[in-house]
Amino acid sequence: MYDIHCHICYGCDDGAEDLETAVQMVELAADRGTSGIVATPHCNVPGSYTNYWSEKLSAKITALRNETAKRNINCVIYSGQEIFFTHKTLQLLKSGDLITLNGSDYALFEFDFDETGESVYEKLQAAAAEGIIPVVAHPERYGFVSEDVNSAVKLKSIGCLLQINKGSLEGRFGKAAFDASHAIVSRSLADVVASDAHSPYIRTPNMIHTHELLCEEYSYDYAELLLTDNPRRILENEKTIGY
Ligand SMILES: [Fe+2]
Repeated sequence: MYDIHCHICYGCDDGAEDLETAVQMVELAADRGTSGIVATPHCNVPGSYTNYWSEKLSAKITALRNETAKRNINCVIYSGQEIFFTHKTLQLLKSGDLITLNGSDYALFEFDFDETGESVYEKLQAAAAEGIIPVVAHPERYGFVSEDVNSAVKLKSIGCLLQINKGSLEGRFGKAAFDASHAIVSRSLADVVASDAHSPYIRTPNMIHTHELLCEEYSYDYAELLLTDNPRRILENEKTIGY
């Protein structure tokens, strides 16, 4: 499996607080069948995490790669960001202050939970017009989607990919997100499932149970598509596949 949304870039957001914690997260994921993780720190969040791409962030990824290699943990660490979409985002992507997932055309975007659908569509259309393939982080957690799952169809028509959180499928973010996540998956609108992990203890990067859940409730092929094939395609900048 490949996890394209994970807060292992330690000491820069509300994810892993230090290198040792990040190593524990990678080790847990690797032990449970994940062979690659994208470090996606929150960034460009007004009044909160800035985290523009820098030598400092890059050095953390390098340290994490070195430490996991030293301990024979078999998991590739990729660079990325979870980009809070503001009016400055496209400019910052062009200038290299914001980065895509492993240097691909795919960028992981998040929004305010209460942002309107119209505002989100407008921003994502602008990104798509610039040749970026938007990956919408946890659409099931946004009000405009959970209130009307047809919004997910609209996001797909813009050319977005939908990344569902494993925790939503398990009911960890409440009923609205649970219902929306399963509605999106059952209607074959989901493209990727990721951990959005923040720690080795709660909201972890262990995705083996998510694989089991998807196999039991949907199918083995769909589980593989969402957890392995599509995320791998994103990392290799290939076209993803629908189900
Ligand atoms: Fe996240």
